[in-house]
Amino acid sequence: MDLVLNHDQRLDQLARDVRDGLTGSPKTLPSKYFYDAHGSDLFDQITRLPEYYPTRREREILADNAARIARLSGAETLIELGSGTSDKTRLLLDALQAAGSLRRFVPFDVDPAVLHSAARALSTEYPHLQVSPIVGDFEADLDRLPAGSRRLLAFLGSTIGNLVPAERADFLGSVRAVLDVGDALLLGTDLVKDPDRLVAAYDDAAGVTAAFNKNVLAVLNRDLAADFDLAGFDHVAVWDREQEWIEMRLRSRSRQRVRIASCELTVEFAEGDEIRTEISAKFRLEGIRAELAAAGLRADQIWTDRAGDFAVSLALPV
Ligand code: AVJ
Repeated sequence: MDLVLNHDQRLDQLARDVRDGLTGSPKTLPSKYFYDAHGSDLFDQITRLPEYYPTRREREILADNAARIARLSGAETLIELGSGTSDKTRLLLDALQAAGSLRRFVPFDVDPAVLHSAARALSTEYPHLQVSPIVGDFEADLDRLPAGSRRLLAFLGSTIGNLVPAERADFLGSVRAVLDVGDALLLGTDLVKDPDRLVAAYDDAAGVTAAFNKNVLAVLNRDLAADFDLAGFDHVAVWDREQEWIEMRLRSRSRQRVRIASCELTVEFAEGDEIRTEISAKFRLEGIRAELAAAGLRADQIWTDRAGDFAVSLALPV
């Protein structure tokens, strides 16, 4: 087990990120902190909601093209960034195993509990596969990826959309820097579409996304001894048509004061004050090609689902 950050280091990082985010204007919280065990479970529920199409569309693309991806990549190692429960990964693992090249699977995720249970399940399901999980932050720890030839780096679910353009450029630049000739990047990206469908996907009727959004406050309550009242905030999802991203926010229902003991910080909220908790950028095919190219990556293939909702790109270092 390769632990990139220990428990105390992760708490220090969380405290720093929360202090920076909640003392700035606008107030923000990094979306990576949604994913404790409960948040990962809520996200899992989101992927099955009628309004949340991305997971189903990406699965359709992977099911239709996994054999091609296996052949084109010839991967011996599959590395999955932000692997979560590694659900769609099984489509890739099966195809890579059938192609005969696969030796090793490296799930890479911020949450150790989620990572370990996924790794355990996969080791049982794929007894001949070497499963080597890494706890890490895909924005900071890419240099810790295992060396080797013919690695396929999968970054699915349109998680890249949670980064602003400058962060995406940095991230793709570090991906390019760790890839050698013979390696490849498999990138999932949600596409621009009717704003009503986009907003519904982030503000579902059953309220699961609202619970997911508020869970970040529960994470702060538990890990930083904060006293957020989850009922004191409303879930908000808005489409920014200039930036072409969905923003999730938590809006204070009243004037209130929140204490975050571990940060020695008190935060004041006026009624209607918002915390931005996530951006989820949506892409166009030309934009995907351009962002890859700017990082020194060539989009060898871009597949979309039949409805044209989502894209998966196979990119090679140039
Ligand atoms: C899988 C992290 C990309 O932005 O669509 C789902 C997370 N947020 N509903 C996304 C999410 C709200 C999801 N990512």
